[in-house]
Formats: sequence, C-alpha cells, structure tokens
Amino acid sequence: MVKAVDHVGIAVRSIAEARKFYEALGLEVESIEEVESEGVRVAMIPLGPTRIELLEPLQADSPVGRFLAKRGPGIHHLCLASSDVRADSAQLRESGFSVLRDEPTPGAGGHRVQFIHPKSSGGVLYELAEE
Ligand code: CO
Repeated sequence: MVKAVDHVGIAVRSIAEARKFYEALGLEVESIEEVESEGVRVAMIPLGPTRIELLEPLQADSPVGRFLAKRGPGIHHLCLASSDVRADSAQLRESGFSVLRDEPTPGAGGHRVQFIHPKSSGGVLYELAEE
C-alpha cells in the first residue's frame, strides 16, 4: 500500500551546481551516495514530510545519463513510499500496468525500489520505495 510522496527525483548534470538553488532556499543536502547498479550519484534534500532527490549520472550510458541526453535536466520521477513494494507491484501488474523490473532492487538509502513505466502511468515515471 502506498502511503505518501517519498521524494521527487530531479535529473541534474552536476549535484555541486544544482544544490546551490536549494541551499539558497535554506535547505540542506542531508546525504550524497552512489548507487553503482543504477549508475547514479544521489543527493537527498529533506523538505517537510518529503524530499528532493538530485540524480547525477556516473556515466553517460545510464538511465539518468540517457534521460539527460534526450530531455535535459528536470523532473525525472515521483517516488511513492510503499509498505510492501512486491505486493504493490503485483497488484499493478494484475491491473495491466507496466512494472519495469521482475523484482524490487536496492535503491538509495537502502530502500527496495521498483519503477512503473511512464507509458502506462499517465506520462509519469513512478518509483515505489520500501524502507
Ligand atoms: Co528516487
């Protein structure tokens, strides 16, 4: 079951550059980590009950690298906090929606994550994340 907006993922060319905007608003980067399996460096910026996630590609040939090449920097995905990613994925699949991976995979912050193809979810790439 999904419970809240966990974070908004934003594709950036450089976390060092992009963070300046948020810091000018008085927000702070809480953590920066690399998720090698996704080819991405992730900066988390807490914002009230949710977070902004800045995504910088580690190499051009990665999901975020390809997104940047095609569309430039901007909103990449919306992440919903789930109490059970596997069950939510199964339910979406049964309802005919396009779930990208067979099984949840490790994401930032030690979460288990799954993605829903934007073609089947109104043009929005959704991430489901379970702590
Ligand atoms: Co995310």
